[in-house]
Amino acid sequence: MRKKIVAGNWKCNTSLQEGVELAQAVNSVVLERGAEDVTVVLGVPFTHITKVIDTVNTDRINVSSQNCAAEAKGAFTGEVSASMVKSTGSTHVILGHSERREYYNETSEILNKKVALTLENGLTPIYCCGEPLTIREANNQNDFVKQQLEETVFTLSSEDFSKIVIAYEPIWAIGTGVTASTEQAQDMLAYIRSIIAEKYGNEIAEATSILYGGSCSPKNAAELFAQKDIDGGLIGGASLKPEDFLAIINAY
Ligand code: G3H
Repeated sequence: MRKKIVAGNWKCNTSLQEGVELAQAVNSVVLERGAEDVTVVLGVPFTHITKVIDTVNTDRINVSSQNCAAEAKGAFTGEVSASMVKSTGSTHVILGHSERREYYNETSEILNKKVALTLENGLTPIYCCGEPLTIREANNQNDFVKQQLEETVFTLSSEDFSKIVIAYEPIWAIGTGVTASTEQAQDMLAYIRSIIAEKYGNEIAEATSILYGGSCSPKNAAELFAQKDIDGGLIGGASLKPEDFLAIINAY
């Protein structure tokens, strides 16, 4: 059976102190009332990782970075490598988020290096894909997402591919309050699973967790998560509110 995953992405929010308080609050609600069969991940700023790991029960809550360097080490001022992330006790790395692709020019070539380093260091990439509004309006979303995957994670061996998590986030739904309809989300996730099956076979396709992200909230999570191919969510804004994040976890 596939893992159900609810991953928060705090993005560039919270001071260290606020982050620790948020982690404490999330930890207590998840431990007391969170559905136990859901894998919970907190994607926090680099500066917060060690404190958040010290704050939460890591048997129950996984801590993730939101990025890592495309190089293993060396003279790359300001970068944080995958091995550094690993050394904190973090378990996941969010990669390929549309904000990184758009604002920091992350190309497929860069992302391939990051995915490789993440896997070499025993971290799980949560690999994001998703189309902008113009592509959706032209009904070219399937080809767009297929190309994003073909240029990156579809170049992995079967063994490596089976270690990753995919997150589909239509750009037009991120932080806008406009969620993809349940049907749009299910159709895309079923499509992604079908192209994984073409590339790696049914067994790997059926075992791959594919998440939906984009204005996911306590109001729409249950309907989204009830869909056959939706294995959880990558949650932005609502992950900053412990009760909302809990409600999303419990929407399964
Ligand atoms: O990584 C999370 C996504 O960008 C979704 O953000 O839930 O605020 O729309 P959002």
